Amino acid sequence: MKIDIVTAQPDIISEPLRQSIIRRASDKGVIDIRVHDLRQYATDRHKQVDDYPFGGGAGMVLKPEPIFSCIEKLQKDAEESGASVDEVIYLTPDGVTLNQKMANSLSMKKHLILLAGHYKGVDQRVRDRLITREISIGDYVLSGGELPALVLVDALVRLLPGAIGDAVSALSDSFQDELLDAPAYTRPAIYRDLEVPAVLRSGNHEAVSNWREAERLKKTMERRPDLLDG
Ligand code: ADE
Repeated sequence: MKIDIVTAQPDIISEPLRQSIIRRASDKGVIDIRVHDLRQYATDRHKQVDDYPFGGGAGMVLKPEPIFSCIEKLQKDAEESGASVDEVIYLTPDGVTLNQKMANSLSMKKHLILLAGHYKGVDQRVRDRLITREISIGDYVLSGGELPALVLVDALVRLLPGAIGDAVSALSDSFQDELLDAPAYTRPAIYRDLEVPAVLRSGNHEAVSNWREAERLKKTMERRPDLLDG
């Protein structure tokens, strides 16, 4: 899978991509992620990527020109290599809220462009012409789309075949079948006065599996009854 991330704040994004699962997936060739600095597409002398909003109001808005040149160049490059970009996603608090189903379906795409907005947002013409999907990572406002873009990348990469060692692991995550995950324990079996449930140490796989299923249901009922609706 190929992911291009377009941002005015490349430093926020670049370092986390060099860590952990995403790093390993890149090293293995499972994913090809590139970060594009909008400032390099600014044409004026000051490399300005944002400006005051028409009509007044607080905050700055990302200008259309650098975003159009960057994204259209990426689309043209893809076409010249005989492929095409599947989705151009804008991370914004007024987008559709990300969930596991959406992550599963996006993880099947071949090429995504993610646009991280900053300041007060992006010029609406970018959204009207270039963006195919708008995604929020939750009902709260962050100072930019960079962290949301990283959240989305992480949620996608761990689903790609070969990205994580244990293929079963991603499939048994919380939400993967609408249930939260069961509690996990490791050694020591007794820590202070806290003991790992005996069933997990019993070696009885069927009993372990039944226990986990029951714990998942219990936790989901307590914390997220909305997931059980229907
Ligand atoms: N940009 C700022 N806040 C955001 C959020 N909650 N989701 C996606 N993008 C954002």
